[in-house]
Amino acid sequence: MINYDVLRSSFHALHGRRPRLFRAPGRVNLIGEHTDYNDGWVLPMAIRFDTVVAGAAREDRRVRVRSLNLDEDAEFDLDTPGPPRRGIWLDYVEGVARALESRGVRLRGADLLIQSDVPVGAGLSSSAALEISVGLALVSLAGMEIDPVSLALAGQQAEHEYVGTRSGIMDQFIATLGRADHALLIDCRSLEATHIPLDTSEVAVVICDTQVKHELASSEYNTRRAECERGVDILREVMPETRALRDVSVANFERFGPLLPEPIRQRCRHVVTENQRTLAAAEALRNGDLEATGKLMGLSHRSLRDDYEVSSPELDLLVDIAGMARGVLGARMTGGGFGGSTVNLVGRDCLDEFHETISGEYFRATGIQPAIYVSEAAGGAEEMR
Ligand code: GLA
Repeated sequence: MINYDVLRSSFHALHGRRPRLFRAPGRVNLIGEHTDYNDGWVLPMAIRFDTVVAGAAREDRRVRVRSLNLDEDAEFDLDTPGPPRRGIWLDYVEGVARALESRGVRLRGADLLIQSDVPVGAGLSSSAALEISVGLALVSLAGMEIDPVSLALAGQQAEHEYVGTRSGIMDQFIATLGRADHALLIDCRSLEATHIPLDTSEVAVVICDTQVKHELASSEYNTRRAECERGVDILREVMPETRALRDVSVANFERFGPLLPEPIRQRCRHVVTENQRTLAAAEALRNGDLEATGKLMGLSHRSLRDDYEVSSPELDLLVDIAGMARGVLGARMTGGGFGGSTVNLVGRDCLDEFHETISGEYFRATGIQPAIYVSEAAGGAEEMR
């Protein structure tokens, strides 16, 4: 938990001014994985971990940033184009600032002090939390306003242009538009978002972090995206109105899928079926049917493991162990994959037992202690008053 008073007084000690505070959450995706950049549907929720930015405007156009987590300082000037992609945390900060300016938001310089409790490398979108909290801080300190969708798009632009991952819109979108006690069904083509009540009084959303991050993540991510695009090119020859895999129904895929070479066919099958599962899961959630939601999560995991091939031995192990534990309605990997976390729906009366089984069995098999978090669905980015 971040102590806001301590953050405020640290800022005051550094800069002699009282800061304004802004926060943006991490996220966990319930279902709809690798569908966002295929114009499909996703169903994430914001989690109780945040990145918080304490900031005050400056008279010039310099942005000076201190990361409390890393104990590092960095700065850049909004009027001097910076070097793209240094491979460090500042890329997210500078990337979002430049993305905002390129979208016509004239910023002022600022002093920023950043602290985060979103686990890093856990597949919980610590990077989107950073982009969105900084973006909101910079816009607000410049005396401007921005709608949540434009802010999310600026965060995604930072990811594409400064960080080098061609990510979809899910992470930034849920960071801006999350709502307490709700999951968010996002149509990643129209960018229409629907809040769906998520009652966790009896069933908890539990995140299990493998504590393993495979280096492949970013390059494999871009490869998967290219494979999907290749699939669309081929399918367009027989279904000319296809713009993205979102436009391919399961029935059409069964008919035309055989035209695709492997592994393109497998990749596309995942996306086409995952879209269908995501819509079904949203419907089940709406009806309060967490059991049906859980079953769809299990199918999603298999598809990500076997067809999309973005799981890892550790993720598979956590899902298998969860499958043997009592009170588990569903378990799957969440986020981009190649390490990171699983998301689980677990009956509240079985939480202690779940915790014990997961840490015991996972440790026995890997020698690694997993991190386990229970999270309510949290609210999106905001200024803290
Ligand atoms: C990462 C990306 C998202 C999304 C997921 C996979 O988190 O940032 O846009 O593509 O992977 O669903």
